[in-house]
Amino acid sequence: MDILYDCDPGQDDAMALLTALGNPNKVKVLCVSTVGGNQNINLVTQNAGYLLAFCKQHIPLVQGQAGPLLNQLHVQAKAHGSTGMDGSDSLNKYAYPVEDDNAICFMANILKKQSQKVTIVATGPLTNIALLIKTFPEIIPKIAKIVIMGGGIDHGNVTDLAEFNIWTDPEAAQIVFSSPLEVIMAGLDVTEKTTITKKEIASLQFGGPASKMAGNLLHFYQKSGEQFGFTAAPVHDLVAMEYAIWPEFFEAVPANIKVNTNHGDAYGQTYIAKGKDENKAAHNVLIKKMTKKLFFALLQKSLQFLD
Ligand code: BDR
Ligand code: CA
Repeated sequence: MDILYDCDPGQDDAMALLTALGNPNKVKVLCVSTVGGNQNINLVTQNAGYLLAFCKQHIPLVQGQAGPLLNQLHVQAKAHGSTGMDGSDSLNKYAYPVEDDNAICFMANILKKQSQKVTIVATGPLTNIALLIKTFPEIIPKIAKIVIMGGGIDHGNVTDLAEFNIWTDPEAAQIVFSSPLEVIMAGLDVTEKTTITKKEIASLQFGGPASKMAGNLLHFYQKSGEQFGFTAAPVHDLVAMEYAIWPEFFEAVPANIKVNTNHGDAYGQTYIAKGKDENKAAHNVLIKKMTKKLFFALLQKSLQFLD
């Protein structure tokens, strides 16, 4: 499977990327693009570059939109630290080349050249993806599906109703969900229940360099999650990547997912539209749960490949 990975690393984005890189027999990452989200665009690009350099990759890295279409960016330093990916002491010790191009044009050019359809995995605000499909509608047939981490059907994590990635750029998210493409959503309803324990994180210290590095990032992330009431770490973005690679381990249902873009209490909330004709027309997919207890095992195996 060929993928474009759009992200804002983020320790959980990092686990998603490492999992993609650790399965070259299943996944070819054509490009990594970044978007302002967990931290500012320069930091998240540096973090993505760190991961790619650490894993000795030669995948193009391109810097995308600094912030949402309409709103101001509110970074998540409380959850992810001042670098956006705290937990490693060597983030700026690895340099990685960044493409000298506009990310939207860069992604469109990759898609144009592809003979096979490409899956987009997006685990940050959907700003880049919305701009890509609005600016270059001719590439839509080249996209197989878009798997995102974002939203939540019965609750949020930034407001009572809205989840961070969607709340950061609700207008972009609405553009993506309402596009003709199949958009598959890993929302909080599933990602908060698909967690990695302290013991599992500690076990990564017995592995090689990639396992240890991932363990250090997850150790920080798990500790910071305690302030939000999590004992085990909800590694949200990894759910989207594992679904993209191993959909057979998940239960998912068709749904018409919409985003509230009215500036009230529910701004940025995702919900399932339930009109009479909605089920017939449903072209999005909601991930309900992971049916096999493999969440950590799949990450661990991917890291071992990179070790
Ligand atoms: C999402 O927001 C970010 O903090 C995480 O990286 C994840 O993509 C969870 O709400
Ligand atoms: Ca993210």
